[in-house]
Amino acid sequence: MKIALGSDHAGLPLKKEIIKHLEDKGIEIQDFGTLTEDSCDYPDYAMKVAEEVAAKRFDFGILVCGTGIGISIAANKVPGIRAALCGDTFSAHACRQHNDANILALGQRVVGVGLALDIVDNFLSAKYEGGRHQKRIDKISAIEKKYNK
Ligand code: RB5
Repeated sequence: MKIALGSDHAGLPLKKEIIKHLEDKGIEIQDFGTLTEDSCDYPDYAMKVAEEVAAKRFDFGILVCGTGIGISIAANKVPGIRAALCGDTFSAHACRQHNDANILALGQRVVGVGLALDIVDNFLSAKYEGGRHQKRIDKISAIEKKYNK
């Protein structure tokens, strides 16, 4: 499994914890920045990670900003991306099982490190269930196509 990660300055410390957690588990990762605590703009990192995931060069993406809101909104502008902002473990596995989410977004100012790592584990271990959910995913893709002419 290959995971692409990105954050702005406000998500950098939590992103570092997630990277250590994933590397300890032997999971291959690539960090697309930011790499410093200098103030920066979350859409830049959302776009980099979302493009990598949409191109299927990575299995999943994980994005972190202060709230997780801005970075998830930006990532969801890239066609094919279904970024889910999660603050609890139930949503973290449900967004994989039902929504086939391909990016997990987290808010460093919202969740503690322990909960964030549990959310990551729930997200990465859950499997998309397909079935009745696929026609709903297809409808999301149809909305994308309608507005991306
Ligand atoms: C940065 O201060 C903050 O606005 C950003 O990390 C994020 O929370 C935006 O949604």
